Amino acid sequence: MNPAQNVVTKKMILVMALCLTQSLITHSILNKFHIHVINGFSHGEILEAHSRSKDDDLGVRHIPAYGEFNWTFRTDFFSRTKFSCHMWWTGGEKYLDVFWVDNKFLSNECGGNNCRRRSQDDGVYLLLFSYHHN
Ligand SMILES: *[C@@H]1O[C@H](CO)[C@@H](O)[C@H](O)[C@H]1NC(C)=O
Repeated sequence: MNPAQNVVTKKMILVMALCLTQSLITHSILNKFHIHVINGFSHGEILEAHSRSKDDDLGVRHIPAYGEFNWTFRTDFFSRTKFSCHMWWTGGEKYLDVFWVDNKFLSNECGGNNCRRRSQDDGVYLLLFSYHHN
């Protein structure tokens, strides 16, 4: 690589690093997210959900039929915030990551910063998790 190319490469790396930093900071400062865990079971089952991130433990929530549990947060400064839930009900359980910082996930599944997860009797849907009646 000649010196001129080397300078160009260094500049490009600097620009890329600035863009990355910018996007991380934008996520953490501007973005407030709401997560909804919705009980969509149609047979009156209670949905139990224990949701956690590295920093927060939201405890076990009993979500009544057709009800929901929701919470609001901002991502941490480096956008590492990730929430996972252990959910269980009569006859089944599931561990599910309900939030993480990834542009594709955020735009596809958290439109308007509202991430929804809904239990369903059957079927697999983008925003939902599935449950099959036996
Ligand atoms: C959040 O959940 C509660 C029930 O726990 C519900 O009354 C409320 O409407 C929900 N909020 C939003 C913004 O959906």
